[in-house]
Amino acid sequence: MTSPRLLTPIPGPKSRDLAARLRRSESPNVTYLANDFPVFWESASACWVTDVDGNVFLDLTAAFGVAGVGHSHPEVVAAIQHQATRLIHGMGDVHPSDVKVSLCERIAQRVPLPSAQVILGLNGGDAIEAALKTAALATKRRGVLAFEGGYHGLSYGALDATFRDDFKAPFRAQLGAFTTHRPYGCSREQIEAALASHEIGAVLVEPIQGRGGIVVPPDGWLAGLRELCTAHGALLIFDEIFTGWGRTGDWFACEHEEVIPDVLCIGKAMGGGLPISACVAGRDVMSAWPISTGEALHTSTFLGNPLACAAALAATDVMARENLPMRAREMGAYFTQQLQALQTSYPNRIAEVRGRGLMLGLKFFSTADSLDLVTRALHSGLIVLPAGDGSVIEFVPPLVITRDEIDCAVGILNHLLQSSR
Ligand SMILES: Cc1ncc(COP(=O)(O)O)c(C=O)c1O
Repeated sequence: MTSPRLLTPIPGPKSRDLAARLRRSESPNVTYLANDFPVFWESASACWVTDVDGNVFLDLTAAFGVAGVGHSHPEVVAAIQHQATRLIHGMGDVHPSDVKVSLCERIAQRVPLPSAQVILGLNGGDAIEAALKTAALATKRRGVLAFEGGYHGLSYGALDATFRDDFKAPFRAQLGAFTTHRPYGCSREQIEAALASHEIGAVLVEPIQGRGGIVVPPDGWLAGLRELCTAHGALLIFDEIFTGWGRTGDWFACEHEEVIPDVLCIGKAMGGGLPISACVAGRDVMSAWPISTGEALHTSTFLGNPLACAAALAATDVMARENLPMRAREMGAYFTQQLQALQTSYPNRIAEVRGRGLMLGLKFFSTADSLDLVTRALHSGLIVLPAGDGSVIEFVPPLVITRDEIDCAVGILNHLLQSSR
């Protein structure tokens, strides 16, 4: 495919019907249902999604950054099928599967941490919970320093570290309140003051903020955090759930500036589409956990699910063999050029093009303008999402996206911008 194919008004009649059913059956806060949104997906391949009405969309979200190797990569599908005939579910922390061992080994080899050990989880929030607990055990300090605009998940531990107040306000009475926030990219003095005064055991940071609006910190800022954490005996936790596994042009965004954290959280693209995540740390840090005597302090029923482990192993093989981090770098450079050309054409509407690799954002002067474009893009066959305060449109496509597909996306955006001058 090189362009979307729309057969019905968007959303089509089957999507509308499913929306009506979902309105009755799902808790009302989960899925945003409106007259012009959403479309219900039926199938997907590489960068293309087909909805239940047969409309085909170009996906510039990788479905929340997950489809790094592309949707339904044939090798991932084959690995899942093969594993399904062997073992679907194991006993992750009692009688584990062979694929869980292989995946832990593979992750440990891949991360830039010496003698790494892994705690597997089911989603990003899980990896953050494990990282926070690891830091609490290793430092015996309760405080966490995180950053304004940061997003780390919505389970209670991760939520405390997540910045956005709308997610937290209704639950404030039950939240731990162990996190101190400072501006992302703030001065060394501000960080030092926070570390000195809040009994901080962990500094939790995204090397590039994703949901916060595709925000790249100033050069050297992450290296400064590293120095300050070392000086104050706090652990540096990089949340690479979005940036990791090739997205920004390296396997991990921290490799760009060669800053090595103490703990690394991975999720999203690692599983090739199945829900799995990891909290990784060097053996010296992980040894803060006591050796299991039969009852793990931190585990869950589905930990190390064999299907997800098999999918992650296959996705990792594809990513390595096809050198998708390098591809993210090359296609990201091309995409950036095209978005910059768009900015040149619409200087009064587009304020900035930012990001790295295939984690890019287009910042608009007006939030209403960008949100309107997100909906109109869908109606023209492009799936994109807003980020930050809504004034940023994020572009995080599958890393297998081609130049033709980027041209198609930018062509549609250009047309939409032109027609709403
Ligand atoms: C940087 C970051 N951390 C954590 C999370 C939470 O991951 P999950 O939604 O899988 O729990 C996300 C999700 O978008 C994320 O972008």
